[in-house]
Amino acid sequence: ATSPMIDPFGRPITYLRVSVTDRCDFRCVYCMSESMTFLPKKELLTLEELERVCGTFIDMGVRKLRITGGEPLVRRDIMKFFAAMGKRIGDHPGGGLDELTLTTNGSQLRRFATQLAECGVKRVNISMDTLDKKKFAEITRWGRFDQVMDGIDAAQEAGLSVKINAVALKGVNDDEIHDMVEWCGQRGFDITFIEVMPMGDIGNENRLDQYYSLRQLREDLGTRWRLTPLPLSTGGPARYMRCEETGGRIGFITPLSHNFCEGCNRVRLTCTGQLFMCLGQDDDADLRSPMRVSPEDDAPLRKTIESAIARKPKGHDFDYSRQRVDGEVGRHMSTTGG
Ligand code: GTP
Ligand code: 5AD
Ligand code: SF4
Repeated sequence: ATSPMIDPFGRPITYLRVSVTDRCDFRCVYCMSESMTFLPKKELLTLEELERVCGTFIDMGVRKLRITGGEPLVRRDIMKFFAAMGKRIGDHPGGGLDELTLTTNGSQLRRFATQLAECGVKRVNISMDTLDKKKFAEITRWGRFDQVMDGIDAAQEAGLSVKINAVALKGVNDDEIHDMVEWCGQRGFDITFIEVMPMGDIGNENRLDQYYSLRQLREDLGTRWRLTPLPLSTGGPARYMRCEETGGRIGFITPLSHNFCEGCNRVRLTCTGQLFMCLGQDDDADLRSPMRVSPEDDAPLRKTIESAIARKPKGHDFDYSRQRVDGEVGRHMSTTGG
């Protein structure tokens, strides 16, 4: 197999997260404003460019590819891309994938779950912050609860493992954590709770109002469930615990703590071809230009990737205490792919 790229801190880079579109059919309050404007199509990498750049990363030792957005399944013809990437699963002389997966809001899964499974996807992460229809409508604004629930059923019917992502929001879903754990346990889903991050449209509202620390959440869960810590596993940022009563796994992603920077194995590509070496740092590398300048020869692209990895920072510097200026907009989760 291909040996992976190693960053300046000795971390092998084996995980690429790719946002294939900034568009979404929802408008989650912690992600987009209602009046979100999207990028012009010509700014986006074409499907061919996406295949080319992801293929190059696989050639360079990436073993896990996660497709995100926006909502990845609203990108036109995206199944062609999944099919192409699916062909790289397994060991190949030029480098292959251990895992091809996606993070989705679930709205299009009824339509695509079977095709995804046929492309070699085994597991999906689905965002679902609440089991309450009314709250779901408040959080996602445009989301349709029943459609997502049906999408989750479709994923399960297609044989995909499901992990639920729930952003923990004080005063919104903090009263539902036990119900969520129970529901996931019954359905055989893992669940990951995520601390809300200071990204996207914040306006003049400080995200701190909704900040529910996962330390608190874990304590709150402990009043009802027996939780046993599990060893670090997926190479993802989550710390997992086993819920003894349901048998399910509960993950916690606390982006503001630095605990997973040390083992960071990932970089992220935006839908416009910018490579971010860290979710919480602004440094990026433009991968679109070397592809457009040199359509036939991958050498310039590879060189740009290599020099980007060579400056991957040690860790992020998110800062909740920094008050944003009114109307200032941060980098969008939907463009960078979380
Ligand atoms: P697994 O493969 O299931 O471990 O997935 P994952 O947790 O890597 O992916 P997912 O897309 O489900 O991400 C869940 C949350 O973790 C999202 O809110 C991401 O923004 C966040 N996240 C993923 N990677 C990082 C990271 O490197 N740093 C920080 N701070 N957050 C991350
Ligand atoms: N803070 C934390 N999580 C967020 N997500 C989107 N925006 C934010 C934010 N500001 C989550 C989504 C999805 C995952 C990819 O990122 O809910 O589960
Ligand atoms: Fe869409 Fe996900 Fe953002 Fe919600 S969090 S608006 S589902 S991209």
